[in-house]
Amino acid sequence: MAITVKPRHPALGAEIRGVDMTKPVDAETIRQVHDAWMKHLVVVFPDQQITDQQHVVFTRNFGEAEIFHQTSLHLRSDRVREIFLVSNVDEQNHLLPPSEPGQKQLSSSQQWHTDSSYRPLPSMGSLLHGIEISRTGGITQFINMYMVYDELPESLRKQIEGRKARHDFSMLSRLVGSPPPTAEEKAAMPPVWHPLVRKHPVTGRKCLYISSIYNDAVEGLEDGPARRLIEELSTFAAQPKYMYRHEWEPHDVLMWDNRCTVHAVTPHDPNERRVMHRTTIVGRDPVMAA
Ligand code: OGA
Ligand code: MN
Repeated sequence: MAITVKPRHPALGAEIRGVDMTKPVDAETIRQVHDAWMKHLVVVFPDQQITDQQHVVFTRNFGEAEIFHQTSLHLRSDRVREIFLVSNVDEQNHLLPPSEPGQKQLSSSQQWHTDSSYRPLPSMGSLLHGIEISRTGGITQFINMYMVYDELPESLRKQIEGRKARHDFSMLSRLVGSPPPTAEEKAAMPPVWHPLVRKHPVTGRKCLYISSIYNDAVEGLEDGPARRLIEELSTFAAQPKYMYRHEWEPHDVLMWDNRCTVHAVTPHDPNERRVMHRTTIVGRDPVMAA
């Protein structure tokens, strides 16, 4: 059966019907999903009542599923290692306060970023399953970074062309005051430098590649100007014309491309349960300068 694809915003985001993630999905359907994903950057699969195991199996149609390197904050599921817990409820079903270390770290996702950009081969994409969704906020917003690059003012374009930025996992804890990674976690993930303008390995298009929660340095700039440049780029990017805002329904599965989008979630009432499970597709290619 052919899938149907319906755009949700002119810049990015489309809804896909005709896929059932509780069953094996044939190669032709996966090819169609992949095409739609490359075209729309973020795709929504409504009404997927899947287990974590089925979530991981569907993810593997697109690549290997990442196992999160940080073990000290209980953000990785103890039951299915490939599941990253984007949740204010722990696996013993306790609501966690915003002051809890893992919650503090998760709060960084309210700022624009792209997942696992601190890896030498950053993630290709992520799949987020909304299990208990928020009605007081918790809207996940995405930006089309191809369009942003294409329409960047000359003054900003000149500052990034041919330049690299550093991505450091431990920047998170400095940013939101969460416990720093242990010496072991730090050693596993040393800072990396990636081009600010990258060429997408599938589409061949140029896009802006920044991740404000991990970027702690820009080639050739002092700390202050580097910070300001990343902020200025993020502010330019965060315009409604480049943005899809996903308002969750239970059992939506969202799949986004981490190479050509950034995302940020809006705050929500911390007394409201929000349970989302994520898989992350391991990147296959180094970030290619454009
Ligand atoms: C993520 C993330 C967004 C959200 O899962 O990578 O940034 O809606 N979360 O919680
Ligand atoms: Mn994220």
